[in-house]
Amino acid sequence: MAADQERSTKPRFITFEGGEGVGKSTQVRRLADRLAARGIAVVRTREPGGTPKAEAVRSFILQGKPESWGVGAEAVLFAAARLDHVNELIAPSLAAGKWVICDRFADSTRAYQGLTGGVDDKLIDALEHLALNGHTPDLTIILDMDPDIAFERVRQRALDDGMPALADRFEKEDLSFHRRLRDNFLAIAVANPGRCVVLSADTDEDTLAEAVWAALEDHFSDLPAERLAE
Ligand code: TYD
Repeated sequence: MAADQERSTKPRFITFEGGEGVGKSTQVRRLADRLAARGIAVVRTREPGGTPKAEAVRSFILQGKPESWGVGAEAVLFAAARLDHVNELIAPSLAAGKWVICDRFADSTRAYQGLTGGVDDKLIDALEHLALNGHTPDLTIILDMDPDIAFERVRQRALDDGMPALADRFEKEDLSFHRRLRDNFLAIAVANPGRCVVLSADTDEDTLAEAVWAALEDHFSDLPAERLAE
């Protein structure tokens, strides 16, 4: 892009949160593409993961290995991964003027391990303080959906993809866990009204992408207009 077309907006850190099967990853990708189409440099990332060290922690955790260690240790592991992710990718990207869009972040530890898993608030606060090192998101979009509907979506997607074994993934976990998780994400939104926006994910992908964009317009007054084709 020619220098006179470069868009100078303040770099922003945006996170997406919510339960399983709510369509976070799709919306993260769509938002990153939409910002890029406006000439904004964007880094798209996810948690757990985002850097080689954090991805190593991700595979350790998602293989179920720390289950026997207990939920407190799990919270510490997520925070250790986050510390590296913030230091090695998120903070440097923001410092370089890029926007960062992250699929899950610290609110997931608070919702899953803290409020739903029972890990003490004080430990969650301390881990958050350590891992974020001042890098609180500018905006957190919480995608909200009834877990019964999310369950059906995950099942259907797995069947459509020819992966019937994955269709049962949700059934292994207690649906009441997912209901509590949903309530806890909503409680996080209530506790952080300036940062969090709750959007109903029980809609089609395009409508939700428009709602996400409207949330950005509400929060940030300096969003550039779409670039016109040359
Ligand atoms: P993933 O396959 O990325 O699921 P999703 O598409 O729902 O994000 O797996 C991430 C899992 O890790 C998901 O079940 C949420 C959980 N998680 C925590 O329990 N605590 C955390 O701090 C984070 C970041 C994720």
